[in-house]
Amino acid sequence: MDISEIADPAFTNEAAESTPAPSQRSDDNTKAMIEVPPSSAADDKHLTEALTALVNAVYSTAERDIYSTDFERTSTEDVADLLRAGELAIAYLPRPDANEDASSFHQTWGTPIGCISMKQISPTTGEFGMLAVDPAHRGAGVGGGLVRFAEERCYRNLGLGAMRLELLAPVHFEHGGKTRLQAWYESLGYVHVELRDFKGAYPHLHELLSGPTEFRVFEKRLVD
Ligand SMILES: CC(C)(COP(=O)(O)OP(=O)(O)OC[C@H]1O[C@@H](n2cnc3c(N)ncnc32)[C@H](O)[C@@H]1OP(=O)(O)O)[C@@H](O)C(=O)NCCC(=O)NCCS
Repeated sequence: MDISEIADPAFTNEAAESTPAPSQRSDDNTKAMIEVPPSSAADDKHLTEALTALVNAVYSTAERDIYSTDFERTSTEDVADLLRAGELAIAYLPRPDANEDASSFHQTWGTPIGCISMKQISPTTGEFGMLAVDPAHRGAGVGGGLVRFAEERCYRNLGLGAMRLELLAPVHFEHGGKTRLQAWYESLGYVHVELRDFKGAYPHLHELLSGPTEFRVFEKRLVD
């Protein structure tokens, strides 16, 4: 997939010509697509609830051993704020009977299967977060497509030269998922540049941690 050749409809205001990403389901020939929906999607209750449920389910599994109790990574209000700001890209399975005049994302585009948030954090740097893919659609390039989409958007649309991400990893035991995730980010070109203060950044989550963690910041230079 070369997303550099694909128009970003939310930026160009063109119709929904989105970034293709393959779906892994062998019984489903539909290609997943990636898009930043228009800000009006923030008022689509069905969409904000579906994305919130997806992100919270994915993170509660991925970070189960890191927190001493159940926690919610996001809320419908947070998701709506991201959509309103144009800071959330969605991977989705397009509907064969898409209705461009419909008011809901599900009717217009299809079923969300993943997402990534992205924002500018300095004059030169962007950051992505809240990366989540439905377990039923993993291992087929959707997560990588979301990361590349965020990188392209920051580089081409915002003119940013670097992308950052944060990774919370326990240091009192080896966390297989985080080790795999970090190796994957490194294979995508991200380099560990800093340790951040998790307590200062997310005080409400810090008190739920089950033990000591490192809050690692990774950065990648964005180039052609
Ligand atoms: C990480 C994640 C977004 C990848 O989505 P995906 O669609 O499977 O990604 P791709 O198919 O493009 O790439 C697969 C890569 O993701 C990594 N990966 C897949 N499943 C993973 C999991 N459960 N935990 C950690 N990493 C995983 C693998 O390293 C894999 O690379 P490899 O095939 O070279 O080993 C997805 O596994 C997920 O939602 N994980 C839980 C949420 C999370 O950890 N988010 C990031 C928080 S910083």
